[in-house]
Amino acid sequence: MEKLVITGGTSLKGEVTISGAKNAAIAILPATLLIDGVCNIENVPNISDVRAYCEILETLGAKITWKGKNEIEIDTRNLSCTDAPLDLTSKFRASYYLLGALLGRCGKAVVGMPGGCKLGARPIDQHIKAFEALGATVDVSQGKILAKADKLVASSIYMDVVSVGATINAMLAAVLAEGTTIIDNVAKEPHIVDVANFLNTMGADIRGAGTDVIKINGVKKLTGNATYSVVPDQIEAGTFMIAAVASKGDILIKNCITKHLEPLTSKILEVGAHVEDIDGDNIRVWCDSRPKKANLKTLPYPGFPTDLQPQMGVVLAIADGTSIINETIFESRFQYTEELNKMGATISPQGTRAIFEGVPKLTGAPVYSTDLRAGAALIIAGIIADGVTEVYNLQHIDRGYENIEDKFRNLGAKIERVSE
Ligand code: EPZ
Repeated sequence: MEKLVITGGTSLKGEVTISGAKNAAIAILPATLLIDGVCNIENVPNISDVRAYCEILETLGAKITWKGKNEIEIDTRNLSCTDAPLDLTSKFRASYYLLGALLGRCGKAVVGMPGGCKLGARPIDQHIKAFEALGATVDVSQGKILAKADKLVASSIYMDVVSVGATINAMLAAVLAEGTTIIDNVAKEPHIVDVANFLNTMGADIRGAGTDVIKINGVKKLTGNATYSVVPDQIEAGTFMIAAVASKGDILIKNCITKHLEPLTSKILEVGAHVEDIDGDNIRVWCDSRPKKANLKTLPYPGFPTDLQPQMGVVLAIADGTSIINETIFESRFQYTEELNKMGATISPQGTRAIFEGVPKLTGAPVYSTDLRAGAALIIAGIIADGVTEVYNLQHIDRGYENIEDKFRNLGAKIERVSE
């Protein structure tokens, strides 16, 4: 088992280049199954969820060639089956995109119930609602989801819940469906726009991604024969912006889209730190005083992202005063606060709210990552704490951050990955 050993008390300074977005890449990879052709994808983050997805695509008959550390060529002309391997699909949540993609391409899909971070119930009723509206039948039994359709036909779908996954899955299933599909009350995250842009580059006809309503004119075939570059990771960029604030450092975050970071930028200014949008693709964040208290409410994009809530929790844990976080997306996204309290924080989680009574400093301790973003938060906490922190359960962190300890070390952090 590996752990990160961090000696704290560092102010992070320097530059970091952001990788491609995890939540775009692990939707674009299954989306390639809709293509009867070959495509190239650049700026792919080299993370374990991506490598796991490549393994799944190969078991389905795709031919995958890594052209470099972050570029993949995918040939999906000869798919051999529509049953995704259970042991692999249960590793993470995004495996449910195989349902929309295989339904769209082959009219049938068998996928194990998705895994992923334990953040609450995380049902898939809206995914199923979309598939059934398009003419599919969906059965869930023995831990598997079986979806099939003799023919997918366009429909008008109103999402009861704003859901990133269901929005993308509905798009995947509708791209080759006959007619014009309207999906209303959709999620608007940058990675949804990226998946729509990818599909359109490959021959689809999707309009309105990033707004409340997406319109899809079904096409006969996606030909591929194109190259697409994955959008920079809004959440990775935000993680480093927050690390600059928490450590009273000064970081230039390169290769990001500052427009996607506006909800975080506004909160960073509110706690008294500074932000300079260099040119829309690079942003500088610095802080030279103890953060002020602030209240935070997570919302679907363009609200404050739930995936940056644990990281911002570290800033509020050391802020001057009492802050409240209201987590409206997931029922159980405060497990990390127990770990921060081991480091001297005084946080009281109460259901979907948590009260942060700011303390002047944290003290290093052995802590356990409970999910991907909690892990990132604990690394930031270790970097700013007095003494040594050991972060365990790195498998969560490695799912979504490429070379995270190298990136933090290049900013001055004293951090090493050690095998137990
Ligand atoms: C995606 O999860 C991301 N994962 C999550 O990122 C992110 O936190 C989340 O979107 C919200 O932005 C991937 O993209 C792989 P949702 P997803 O469907 O699609 C409820 C990370 O750290 N809901 O938008 O599962 C659901 O319970 C991960 O990168 C239903 O009720 O999120 C939740 O309360 C963690 N029925 C809310 O909607 C459904 O059918 C939002 O979930 C689907 C969702």
